[in-house]
Amino acid sequence: MEKREQLYEGKAKKVYATDDENLVIVSYKDDATAFDGLKKGTIAGKGVVNNKMSNYIMQLLEKNGVPTHFVQELSDRETLVKKVKIVPLEVIIRNISAGSFAKRFGVEEGIVFAEPTIEFSYKNDDLHDPLMNAYHAIALGVATREEIETIKAMAFKVNSVMKEYFLTLGVKLVDFKLEFGKTPDGTIVLADEISPDTCRFWDAETNEKLDKDRFRRDLGNVEDAYAEMMRRVFGA
Ligand code: TMP
Repeated sequence: MEKREQLYEGKAKKVYATDDENLVIVSYKDDATAFDGLKKGTIAGKGVVNNKMSNYIMQLLEKNGVPTHFVQELSDRETLVKKVKIVPLEVIIRNISAGSFAKRFGVEEGIVFAEPTIEFSYKNDDLHDPLMNAYHAIALGVATREEIETIKAMAFKVNSVMKEYFLTLGVKLVDFKLEFGKTPDGTIVLADEISPDTCRFWDAETNEKLDKDRFRRDLGNVEDAYAEMMRRVFGA
């Protein structure tokens, strides 16, 4: 596989073309942003943790029948993935109240829901990723009704697989954000990443935060939290 020109640079990753038009290489950076890029920083080693954890989880999901963009891990920071057209929706599943949910509804963090919730945001930094329901998405041509139904079913399946898996590591899966992509033949696959950048992880015993909230909220020990999640997934 030959790495070719850079196609795109995002806040946390770069994407490169390859000699196969259907495959791209993602390269994970240590750069961290929050609040639409207003807050900027570096989390040393984050790119390695996110790359390896995301690949591990995507393979676990594949085994459980969820199609993903994952093809092959190339190095600590680089992975070969299927080239997809990203559906411009951030799909958020919540098991426990936290973050913008707690703020929007004026409730404390830590309420365990009887059933998981799902919400969509329109992926658009200039508009600050506004909340969007399925009707809005269909009206604006962001996705078809069938695609929304597929995405919803896949997102809840991802939740049940991940929730159970992380509990075996002594970690509560509080909430997370997914992105989906479309392959050239129109198949919807899970894309982007699954990592401490995109999930809230709380220690099952102490509720200690083991994710990017340590950066967002200036809680300190940011690198330690990423390293601890790496240790739980892959062992010491
Ligand atoms: P929220 O409570 O701020 O809406 O975040 C919900 C989940 O989505 C949380 O696990 C963090 C993740 N997330 C992202 O991955 N990217 C984002 O831009 C935002 C705002 C949240």
